[in-house]
Amino acid sequence: MDSANIEQIVKQVLKEMTGGQTPDANAPAGSAQAKGAIPKTAHVAMLTSLEHFDVKEFPMPAVGDGDILIKVEGCGVCGTDAHEFKRDPFGLIPVALGHEGTGEIVAMGKNVKKDSAGKDLHVGDKVVTCMIFKDNPDITMFDLNKQNVGGADVYGLLPDDDVHLNGWFSDYILVREGSTVFNVSDLDLDSRILIEPCAVLVHAVERAKTTNILRFNSRVVVQGCGPIGLICIAVLRTMGIENIVAVDGEAKRLEFAKLMGASKTVNFKDYKGIEALTGAVESSFDGHLADFAFQCTGSPVAHSNIYKFIRNGGGLCELGFFINGGDATINPHFDICSKEITTVGSWVYTLRDYATTFDFLKRAKGIGLPIEKLITHKFPLEQINEALKTNLKMEGLKIAIVNK
Ligand SMILES: NC(=O)c1ccc[n+]([C@@H]2O[C@H](COP(=O)([O-])OP(=O)(O)OC[C@H]3O[C@@H](n4cnc5c(N)ncnc54)[C@H](O)[C@@H]3O)[C@@H](O)[C@H]2O)c1
Ligand SMILES: [Zn+2]
Repeated sequence: MDSANIEQIVKQVLKEMTGGQTPDANAPAGSAQAKGAIPKTAHVAMLTSLEHFDVKEFPMPAVGDGDILIKVEGCGVCGTDAHEFKRDPFGLIPVALGHEGTGEIVAMGKNVKKDSAGKDLHVGDKVVTCMIFKDNPDITMFDLNKQNVGGADVYGLLPDDDVHLNGWFSDYILVREGSTVFNVSDLDLDSRILIEPCAVLVHAVERAKTTNILRFNSRVVVQGCGPIGLICIAVLRTMGIENIVAVDGEAKRLEFAKLMGASKTVNFKDYKGIEALTGAVESSFDGHLADFAFQCTGSPVAHSNIYKFIRNGGGLCELGFFINGGDATINPHFDICSKEITTVGSWVYTLRDYATTFDFLKRAKGIGLPIEKLITHKFPLEQINEALKTNLKMEGLKIAIVNK
């Protein structure tokens, strides 16, 4: 029997099994290739009022020629989700939240062939999304280093529409034509859930490098050991920096900072006044001040303090104020001018940082940093209200929704 005959027989058997239809008939749209049986409905956790999600059921939408239907595996809870849950500052309610998500392609339109980096895409691949630049078709992958995510749309922070499958706190999400998508099948689920917050730090370190002060042998202070500061330490460690002092007020978080690669830690609660605290940082660097500092708290006092830890001619990356946390007092003469400090701000990330982040996660594992331990709590979708409350109580580090 030759291969043409085998193909014929396979086709015949499949025809009988599917009642004359092609195996793609499960796809919600005729043109889409699909994997397995796709249910007729999807479940989406909608924030319907302050501090309350309802898990709603919606019809599975049609998959257009440029669309991708993804079965969601998991999604991290971000500080932004917590702000939405508590106060809805963006006025989005009712909204499908969740932007740190990942899942498996179960159906895709015939025009979808490659991801945003040019890698092939197939049904069964594991993916993440980044920004949506529908309104600005001139932007390409290669000039995105000029522009961060500000001004772009993101799944998980979109207004509700007729499709409803717009956020990753769900069991299915429909990624529409024009969105950025990355094939990250070579990363495990925990790593994929951590991509978005890690991209924030990859970007911050890229911003820091533009000062030409941050080098492989620099002495670096990381102030604030929440998820942001902890990932910052890991990113620095993977670029070969070994002399990292972590500052926080929580002993448990400082212990975690060591796991992420900090060489020394300073608990600011052990010192009275900024001079004593500066002395503690200095002695952690064997009598030197820091060459470079990363400010990873949302505390104005912490911003005021950090200049004291930096040597003359050193650098600072301020990334702790994703939202307005109020004014901070500094002395321009002592803190910046006479010390010739170079400061950069960092806010979210660019598409380019996403690609770097995938490698960062592999390198971090490669040098034995237990990045996945940042995910301290996993909740099923039905317990999303509890997940958000756990986040607000600041229990643990990264809280994630993980589907069965
Ligand atoms: N630049 C960006 O794009 C971006 C993105 C996400 C989050 N952020 C910001 O980063 C900050 C940190 O995020 P997170 O999720 O790690 O928050 P978090 O609240 O979990 O962690 C902040 C840490 O700072 C510590 N801290 C508070 N005051 C301090 C002080 N005076 N000195 C030293 N440590 C102090 C706290 O004990 C805590 O461990 C937030 O304020 C957030 O707005 C920025
Ligand atoms: Zn986020």
